[in-house]
Amino acid sequence: MKKKILSALLSIAMVASLLVGCGGGDAASTSAGGGEGLVGVAMPTKDLQRWNQDGANMKSELEAAGYSVDLQYASNDVATQVSQIENMISSGVDVLVVASIDGSSLGTVMSQAKEAGIPVIAYDRLIMDSDAVSYYATFDNYMVGTKQGQYIVEALDLENAAGPFNLELFTGDPGDNNANFFFGGAIDVLQPYIDSGKLVIQSGQKEFADVATANWSSEEAQKRMENILSSYYAGGTQLDVVMCSNDSTALGVTNALEANYTGKYPVITGQDCDIANVKNMIAGKQSMSIFKDTRTLASQVVKMVGQILAGEEVEVNDTTTYDNGTGVIPSYLCEPVFADVNNYKELLIDSGYYKEEDLQ
Ligand code: BGC
Repeated sequence: MKKKILSALLSIAMVASLLVGCGGGDAASTSAGGGEGLVGVAMPTKDLQRWNQDGANMKSELEAAGYSVDLQYASNDVATQVSQIENMISSGVDVLVVASIDGSSLGTVMSQAKEAGIPVIAYDRLIMDSDAVSYYATFDNYMVGTKQGQYIVEALDLENAAGPFNLELFTGDPGDNNANFFFGGAIDVLQPYIDSGKLVIQSGQKEFADVATANWSSEEAQKRMENILSSYYAGGTQLDVVMCSNDSTALGVTNALEANYTGKYPVITGQDCDIANVKNMIAGKQSMSIFKDTRTLASQVVKMVGQILAGEEVEVNDTTTYDNGTGVIPSYLCEPVFADVNNYKELLIDSGYYKEEDLQ
């Protein structure tokens, strides 16, 4: 009898240890190092600070959880990204995590992943028109835009001030689905003031296609701002505010202003809290940025990878917003927060995101 009980207890203990060993417990046990498998991580470019952080965070967190990682950057070149993903598929990755360059250009390689039975997590940017995308993890992109819009409303006191104020708009790459959400969120907040004439766009450039910036390039944004300044603000017309969807476009706008504009410095928005832009915020050359803690997103995606590989239910918190053309992709949205010169220390330094000397 005693023997029987003992062997029953032993086999329960063995099953339990097996479960823990293959990440079968809760998410905490997965990220505590129980994972096994190869994860392909495709990132768009090293040119922008944030993707370097995203890639590095993903790699170290996945490795800490026990996975092997194939991390690739594609220099913002779609063909390069496609061939990197093809290589990951043929090398037998267990999960693909993809931050796309152009969300609509991965259909074929996504079908190959599906045929090979490889689950795909779209990272930060949604992959469009493919039913191979299993999950999407990002920050709430629409909220990023509304926070930028709201900042402008408050900074200019649009509710009370008479105005009119001159506004120009800069958003991102047309191939990046996020850009539609950022721009849409900001415009939804600003539109009533544009309609009432309190905000005036001197250049008349207000449609998404007119204000998009190929590849989110600082140089492109700078060129467009220079043209706008010389055509519409040369005679001393005051530019009050520039809504920039992210920090790389804000940087281009700031560069153009420094060289070509002598009026009162406008309110400028941004996103990412890139080091160069935080420095500009401290120096009074950019008003705010949206802080998206890339560590949070990476941790969430590592958790999702563990859940997928363990055959567990994958944690999502949004099942209505992100339709990629084949249906809504179950998503996990992290919350973006607002940063400016008053709270950046707490957000960025106290949290260990940057060191004080990074910003000097
Ligand atoms: C990201 C932003 C980033 C932009 C340019 C977007 O998809 O969400 O954080 O600034 O791409 O790389």
